[in-house]
Formats: sequence, structure tokens, C-alpha cells
Amino acid sequence: MGGMFQSLPGFREFYPEDCAVRNRIFQTWREACARFAFQEFDGPALEPLELFTAKSGPEIVSQLFNFTDKGGREVALRPEMTPTLARLVGARAGSLKRPIRWFSIGENFRYEKQQKGRLRSFYQLNADILGEAGPSADAEIITLLIHVLQSFGLGESDFIIRLSDRNLWLCLLESLAVPEALYPEALSAIDKLEREDGPALIEKLSQAGIPNADKLYAAATELAAINDLADLKTFFGNSDSSVALERLEQWDALMTQIEAQGIASFVKVDLGIVRGLAYYTGFVFEAFQTVGKGRALAGGGRYDNLVEKLGGQPLPAVGFGMGDVTLRDLLELKDLVPEGAESPNAYLVIGGAEERPFALGIAAQLRSEGLRVEYGLKDAGFGKQFKAADHSGARFAVIIGQEEKAGGGAKVKDLQSGKETFVLSAEIADFIVKELP
Ligand code: HAM
Repeated sequence: MGGMFQSLPGFREFYPEDCAVRNRIFQTWREACARFAFQEFDGPALEPLELFTAKSGPEIVSQLFNFTDKGGREVALRPEMTPTLARLVGARAGSLKRPIRWFSIGENFRYEKQQKGRLRSFYQLNADILGEAGPSADAEIITLLIHVLQSFGLGESDFIIRLSDRNLWLCLLESLAVPEALYPEALSAIDKLEREDGPALIEKLSQAGIPNADKLYAAATELAAINDLADLKTFFGNSDSSVALERLEQWDALMTQIEAQGIASFVKVDLGIVRGLAYYTGFVFEAFQTVGKGRALAGGGRYDNLVEKLGGQPLPAVGFGMGDVTLRDLLELKDLVPEGAESPNAYLVIGGAEERPFALGIAAQLRSEGLRVEYGLKDAGFGKQFKAADHSGARFAVIIGQEEKAGGGAKVKDLQSGKETFVLSAEIADFIVKELP
């Protein structure tokens, strides 16, 4: 098979049955966002390289699909939607009604080591609120994230949201005198606490030029292990940082609103979440499946400086991205994959060449009424056509033989009940529509 013309590693092909599932996933995403009154936007898949090297951080930069185009421009396929969104909103910040509630569904590209759940091309739902700095926006975004996952039939036994705070992590870095320029490296190393062993991480931290890497490692391990609000308050309780104290008040406000939405059981305080992207500035969170391999379904947080840093005016923002790969794997595991392709409503069984023009007229009529219609493109015996009708999954066979044509109509056969009815051609569409579920 294939050889020379195989698809690239990490890129998927969508045969119709896969495309149908993908469309159902997109449809569920769109319907969930519509319920929260989010508007859809889109942007280019190919962007200037600097859009991503500027603020996304070292991890994403190392995964870019980038090249020089024929005009000598440095370009990259987008690895994420957030910088594009920040640019779009920044360019019109003066005229957009606030808060801005936008979502987008698009393909992203990351040159990752291919593994289960991680591909080089994937689709992402992004939902973001811009223009509101208070925790009510964070609460709304987290509520939407949970609503989206519930819309697929997933529940409390399937996923959790781990909620953390990038600003509290920055308070820790500041208190340990880590130079600000090294925050991205430090956070990216801390992000790997769960996956890498201590000595290796300490080595990585000191190589990045961070002083007292072992002290930072010890404090980070302690903070990362915190799993409730009370412990978090104790950890920062003696802090003389006004930022830390102000953050703890925001935590109370956020948790109150999450409780009011009845979704507190989905949300776990977990300072072990740091997030790999550099631009986050406040609450950060990740949705993980709690069955199977425990992979990440979605991630997001607050990024109050990105719009301004990419050239717009200051505009606070919070949002999340949810990928289609781990989501679909989880839906498969739970037997919740949304129903696939839609079969035709009617399959025309045509007597022969004599009847074909009359039958095509009926097909045109049914289609103009919005019905899905199929028929054989070559003349064939009835037996073969009925087999094809069954195979197509159509609910009705519309039989047009010599006799039916002479009578000005067709025999409509309900392939579920076997019942046959002669119907005049002008009435076939109505007849079928009435019988459909
Ligand atoms: P992220 O955590 O990099 O965040 O990606 C979010 C989700 O996209 C992940 O949880 C995962 O489901 C999916 N994903 C990421 N990389 C891959 C991959 N290589 N293969 C398959 N799925 C993947 C962001 O992208 C942020 N821009 C989200 C955001 C929006 N933050 C604020 N607004």
C-alpha cells in the first residue's frame, strides 16, 4: 500500500465515517457555545512566524511547523488559535461590544513526538471572553467547558477540571528571587514536575541560569501538591505579598460562582497545573479524563497581557482550547461516539430506461423538498436495486416501474414495516416527510 504517497506522520485522513463523527463533534461544540451566546470567528491557518515566537513560550516554539515562503516571509502553521484571536480583537478593540464572547473551531499544527492522543494536526474548539477582568469571566468559561463535555454525555465519573493559579506561581518565583526573564523557563520546568524526576529538573533549572534551583524545586514540589483552598491559604498566609493576598480573594469569588452553577464537584483545586504556554497571568486550568489513560481534554486560563503585547490596547482575557483527538478517544472508550453519517431518506428503484426520465423528475422534486435521495446510476434489475436500497440505509424505497409511471406516481415502500402505498408523484415528498421520525 501507498509507499511514496502515504500521508505524513501525525496527520489524519477522514474517510466518510470519520468525517461524519468529526462533524457531529463540531456540531455539539457549536450548539454548546451557542447556548452561552458565544459568536463564531475564524482566522488564517498560516501566520507570520513572530506571532507565535513573541509570546507563546519555548515549548510551542520548539514545535512549530515553520518555513520561509516564496516571498521570503518567515511563516508558521498555527499551533494554537489564541495569538490570532488576540490580534483580531486587538485591532478592533475600540468598536467591539464588550465583553467579547467568541469561539472558533479550526485545525492546528504542532511538530510533536507522535503518540496516542498527540498528533501533528488536530482540531480545537477555542472559547474566550475578552474585556472582563473579574473572576465572573473565569467562572463563565469554566462553566462552558464543563457544559461542552457534558453535552457529549460525559459526567462526573469521566472527567475533572484541575484549577490552579499562574499568578501565585509567579509570587513564589518572585519570593525566591528568580529573575523575571527566566520565568518562562522556570514555569516550563515546573510544568514537568509530574513527569520528570527531581535531579534532572534541578539540573535543567540551574542550566537555564536559575539561582538556588534546589530550593525552587523543593518549594515548587510543595506548592504543586496542594489540593484544597485552605492549604493554599496556609501556604501563602504569611506572605507579605499583596498580590498573593489579592489572589486568594479572587479564589474565594471564583469558587463561590462555581458552586452557584452547581458544578463544584467537577472542579478540583490543584496547584500542580502550571500550563506550558507563557502568556497566562491568573487562573489556569486543565480538563483531564479520569478514566483510561487520564489524558488532557482541554486547557486554558487567563491571559490579561497578550492583546496589548501583540500590539493592541490592554484587554483582559480568559479562555480554553479543547482538542478533538483525546475527546474522541474518550467518547470511544465510553461508547458515546455521536452517530455517524446520515443515510438517504429515499432510494428510487427504477424500472428501466423508459421510466428513468420520469423518475429523475421525482428525484428533483423530493430533493427540492429537502429530502436526501439516491438511486442507481445504471439500469439494473429490481433485485439488485432493492439490495442497494437496503445497503444505503434508506428508510423508503420509491418504486417507479411501467405501471406506476402510467398511473402518474410511485409505490412508496417503508423498508422498516414493509408496507407499500401508491402515491401520486406530487404527493410523495409530503407522504415521506409525514412518516419520518
Ligand atoms: P493547549 O493546552 O496547548 O492550550 O491545548 C489545548 C488542548 O488541545 C489540549 O488539552 C489537547 O486536548 C489539545 N491538543 C494540544 N496539542 C495537541 C496535539 N498535538 N494533538 C492533539 N491534541 C492536542 C492552547 O492551545 C491554548 N491556546 C488554549 C487557550 C485558549 N487558552 C486560552 N484560550
